[in-house]
Amino acid sequence: MTAAQSAVMVFPDLTALSRSAADFLATLAGRCSAARNRFSIALSGGSTPRLLYSFLASAPWRESMPWRATHVFWADERCVPPDHEDSNYKLASDAFLSRVPIPLANILRIRGVDGPDLASRSYENDLLRFFGNQTPTIDLAVLGVGEDGHTASLFPGVAALQETKHLALPVHLDPPMHSRVTLALSVLNSAEQVLFLAGGLAKARIVREVIEGANDNRYPAGLVRPVRGNLTWMLDRDAASLLLRSRAAAE
Ligand code: 6PG
Repeated sequence: MTAAQSAVMVFPDLTALSRSAADFLATLAGRCSAARNRFSIALSGGSTPRLLYSFLASAPWRESMPWRATHVFWADERCVPPDHEDSNYKLASDAFLSRVPIPLANILRIRGVDGPDLASRSYENDLLRFFGNQTPTIDLAVLGVGEDGHTASLFPGVAALQETKHLALPVHLDPPMHSRVTLALSVLNSAEQVLFLAGGLAKARIVREVIEGANDNRYPAGLVRPVRGNLTWMLDRDAASLLLRSRAAAE
């Protein structure tokens, strides 16, 4: 990953970060829609993107987004029903998908309730159908990072990290954790744009490790290096507080 392809933007707080992320997303969506009448996005779960998602259902983004050309995927999903409080689908549906004029056929939900093996296979079929039996080139992957360096449901040491054949993978976890389905690293690295969002002091160490630490492949989030695409980190001041190279704080 050359420096030219990655950018780190620091914001005063999560609200400013989320507004800028909504602008970034809507601008890219408009560009993709104008170019080929299609914009594909893979969403993550967790708490960080919640505000961004709710902004998409409010002005000005609700009006500016090309919803009819927008196709929504997930970077990962827990193996729970779609109305379960831990469902990443429910998070996005409650925050914006149920509040904007996006065609239901454009929402490619991971059917986690079928269990990790079956759900990952059917999700892979959905991806192949949409991207014409080629490696998906998702226009934008919105990712978070866990304090252990995981992203999507690619946790340190899971077999899924080594996968090179399948596009969507089962991640078997023991209760009380939910098993999951995750996009493979190859799909994340084929994305045109990857946008990492991180906020809060608790993320400062892992953010510094991933962005400025040794490139030793220790953290799955550090393995996200888009082959052709661009990678952007949007951080609040707390999450960026341990970065050694000073960054211009955005708006
Ligand atoms: C998930 C997410 C996961 C998330 C990170 C960060 O399904 O849990 O996809 O990868 O992005 O755990 O979560 P926070 O935003 O809550 O810190």
